[in-house]
Amino acid sequence: MKYLIANWKMNSIDIEEWFKGFNKFFREIKNDVEVIVCPSYVDIVKCSQQAPNLIMAAQDVSIHDDGPFTGQISALQLSRTSEQLKYCLLGHSEVRSKGDTNSLIRIKSKKLEAFKINSILCVGEDENVLNKGEREKFLLDQLDSYFQEGLCPKFIAYEPIWAIGTGIPADKKNIDEALKIISNFLKEKKQEKIPLLYGGSVSSKNVDEIMSSELLSGCLVGNASLDGEEFARIAKNFRRC
Ligand code: PGA
Repeated sequence: MKYLIANWKMNSIDIEEWFKGFNKFFREIKNDVEVIVCPSYVDIVKCSQQAPNLIMAAQDVSIHDDGPFTGQISALQLSRTSEQLKYCLLGHSEVRSKGDTNSLIRIKSKKLEAFKINSILCVGEDENVLNKGEREKFLLDQLDSYFQEGLCPKFIAYEPIWAIGTGIPADKKNIDEALKIISNFLKEKKQEKIPLLYGGSVSSKNVDEIMSSELLSGCLVGNASLDGEEFARIAKNFRRC
């Protein structure tokens, strides 16, 4: 099974148009690709009405259960939005850059677990860490911190910050090196079955090359997922990988 995740971030999407474009191509795709969409909170219900079989992920969750936390959404509230919401992104670099630490990510993961929402853990270094040759230590810190206290994500996405939103994905060598670090870590933890994903400027033009990395089970797509047709084209190319 391969996994393809759309992260719409805070972009406003015409949901009806998106599914029109997506369905044009996606009909041709068989069951060996699992598609997951991460809409903004306000679009979760709309998406489930538009596509009753679609699996969704939230983009974030609060560390709190309930109460005076303006602008936040709890795991309980997420669980009530739609039965199709099965996952939540955790540790995306755009959320980490606003203060999400490894320990807050752990708390969020536990809150989600209580409502049977699975985590999609994002890890990845910035350019500075990469250039200093400190990627391995950096990734292992992020992973090690998450796996404390028996936590276990459903997916791990390697998302190098230096490739996100640039239009230029990481090259195969960099992806392979990072995935090797992650998969060795998982072997040690006896969790090697966790599917590994890549995110950072994936498009229909480069997905073949990216998916040629042996350790990869899928992709997390930002910009190129905003158009239903382009996202379906990625899914279509994906099948050949
Ligand atoms: P991008 O975003 O595809 O626009 O680079 C990926 C992500 O942030 O998950």
